[in-house]
Amino acid sequence: MSEDFVLELEHIRKEYPGVVALKDVTLQLRRGEILGLIGENGAGKSTLIKCCSGAVIPTSGKIKINGKEFDRMTPQLAAENGIAIIYQEFNNVKELSAAENMFLGRPIRKGITIDRKAMEAEAAKAFEQLRIKINPRELVKNLSVGYQQMIEIAKAVQQNAQVLIMDEPSAPLTNNEVESMFAVVELLRKKGVSIIYISHRLEEIFRLSDRIEVIRDGEYVDTLITPEATVDQLIRMMVGREMTQKFPPRPCCVDESKVVLELRDVCGNGDKNMSFKIHAGEVLGLGGLVGAGRTELAQVIFGAKPKDSGQILLNGKEINPKSPREAIDLGIAMLPEDRKRHGALLGVSIKNNINMPIYKRISKASVIDLGTEKGNAEKFRKEIQIKCPTINQQVKNLSGGNQQKVILGKWLAADSQLIIFDEPTRGIDVGAKYEIYKLINDLVAQGRAVLMISSEMEELIGMSDRIIVLAERQMTGELQKDQFDADTIMTLASAIVDQKEVS
Ligand SMILES: Nc1ncnc2c1ncn2[C@@H]1O[C@H](COP(=O)(O)OP(=O)(O)O)[C@@H](O)[C@H]1O
Ligand SMILES: [Mg+2]
Repeated sequence: MSEDFVLELEHIRKEYPGVVALKDVTLQLRRGEILGLIGENGAGKSTLIKCCSGAVIPTSGKIKINGKEFDRMTPQLAAENGIAIIYQEFNNVKELSAAENMFLGRPIRKGITIDRKAMEAEAAKAFEQLRIKINPRELVKNLSVGYQQMIEIAKAVQQNAQVLIMDEPSAPLTNNEVESMFAVVELLRKKGVSIIYISHRLEEIFRLSDRIEVIRDGEYVDTLITPEATVDQLIRMMVGREMTQKFPPRPCCVDESKVVLELRDVCGNGDKNMSFKIHAGEVLGLGGLVGAGRTELAQVIFGAKPKDSGQILLNGKEINPKSPREAIDLGIAMLPEDRKRHGALLGVSIKNNINMPIYKRISKASVIDLGTEKGNAEKFRKEIQIKCPTINQQVKNLSGGNQQKVILGKWLAADSQLIIFDEPTRGIDVGAKYEIYKLINDLVAQGRAVLMISSEMEELIGMSDRIIVLAERQMTGELQKDQFDADTIMTLASAIVDQKEVS
């Protein structure tokens, strides 16, 4: 007897110009189960589940819902057949109320007028079923991301969805919101809804799922029963190699004779008395707790915030960048923590992003040298292996890891001497992390200097040549490689600073 599958994807292939996003991927969702779908950034998870809703039309392959075959899915067909998807970027209308959003595109009508009361009552019913407290009349713009997501889930419930697909639902949520979301997911499971849960956070997958499907580089790898799977095994399946080594080896490249950056008693942006040097070929780790003043320090060096006193020297010459623009021209680059907001222009092409800091240099009389522009982009695309069909692709269509690479390519093109990374691997999965670490190694091997802010202890210790710890906007310690130790760093990070000692 064949098993009871509510949703089946068979031999799905999706080609984009220049990229095969999916090759022969299969997925089977059993009735009533939670299937975890995992894979690295760019593996094809989102593309695969978009095939279920008709948001993406597969190049070939079949989709079956309750055994019924569809060779072409449309959003309407998907909804009619009980499939609901909560996308990574959910598309709600901020100016409308919770209830209006739930009935977006399919309002309840009384005659020819829209029956607001009925919609509000229905919304209230769905919220109650999920035990979430939202006023149906509240405008979505006044609700937190967690509640906005709940509205999307409630919409699926109201439509009696049999299958709920959630694409990285925990990514935009706070810890508390994640717990509430889990509670709702559990509740839906009890109601018999079948769920596909996408995440790159393995602990969530272990907690929620019955089975786990792994895909890698657009290909199906395997499906495991959750209690039988181990973290190591899953990571190996996701990245396709042994992960005994979290940090790529780096031959020592620190050149003590060449100081790239020096701070002498720098105060500004709330930070006090910062004094240290970074050498060519060195990764200086900046440790400390949130609020210790690490990002603030980076902003001063990068010219984003003014310095009150002290001196900053780049290659032995005092500099006073008044803006990031000036800092970039001087050879300083920064990869900010919040890439989406500050790092790359998502709506423009890879080519434009990479050339952004150097358009002045590659233009004559305001005319851009198109050959150089293209050459530059192709060069860095190859050098740092940005996975994309063409350099004309918009950055927003790339995975997080690849977006990070584009930003890096931009700074490499600008020939930066000092590169500041603020939490370089936050929100990036294991395999992509390794790639970023390799890039950092390449940068220092070329004689550049790196300042790396990191809250991940392992990363700080694994990647730094030297570590400086901040607490309460001051330096509380400096550790050489043989002194690296998590406890020591934590103690320094929570130190109450004695004014006399540091000044
Ligand atoms: N609209 C698109 N045009 C071109 N390539 C795309 C598009 N959407 C996704 N891709 C490519 O398909 C691959 C899979 O992407 P995606 O499904 O978003 O991965 P995941 O969700 O696993 O991170 C990536 O290489 C990505 O760049
Ligand atoms: Mg995705």
